[in-house]
Amino acid sequence: MALIPPQEGWEKVKVARDEKLWMWVAFLVCIGLFLWMVLWHAYGRQNPSNVTYRVSPQEFMELHDAFVMRYKVGEWNGVPVVRVPEGGDVVLMARQWQWSPIVILKKGAWYTFHISSVDVVHGFSLLPINVNFMVLPDYDYVLRFKPTEAGEYSVVCNEFCGIGHHLMIGKIIVIESEEDLAQYQARGLKLTTTENL
Ligand code: CUA
Repeated sequence: MALIPPQEGWEKVKVARDEKLWMWVAFLVCIGLFLWMVLWHAYGRQNPSNVTYRVSPQEFMELHDAFVMRYKVGEWNGVPVVRVPEGGDVVLMARQWQWSPIVILKKGAWYTFHISSVDVVHGFSLLPINVNFMVLPDYDYVLRFKPTEAGEYSVVCNEFCGIGHHLMIGKIIVIESEEDLAQYQARGLKLTTTENL
């Protein structure tokens, strides 16, 4: 709503040339971006792997348990912490209301994540970078990625999944060298094995 009403007959005044030009520029930018949406599927490395497998919650839970038993190196707040060899597979299980396990990765190495839920629909949101995926029961969602920056990443559930939804925060730790682990140990990470991978 304008503070001052426009002059009588404003709608009959011709649009200025500059304004017309900018309207065309904005219009063409919109059309360009619209067409580019299709091209994102072919260009850019932001595309997910498009690989999924059928898996029952029971099977996935067993997969998770075997994975944790094999690669567990410690605990943090009661959640198992695993270290995976470079290029290895990671099993990340979502359930009300926890992500398990906490994963330690090496910067610059490729990993293949298998993500699924063993109960309801959850959402995988990796902060502070912007990675978002739905996590559905019955589907093993495969995600290939290479961490390019060391640091601590939070896995936040972004799909309302019940009363503990806001507590559902997991962790992915990316280290550059073994010394990086010290800062996490100072904050509560308990390593029970120093076996190097
Ligand atoms: Cu899991 Cu919200």
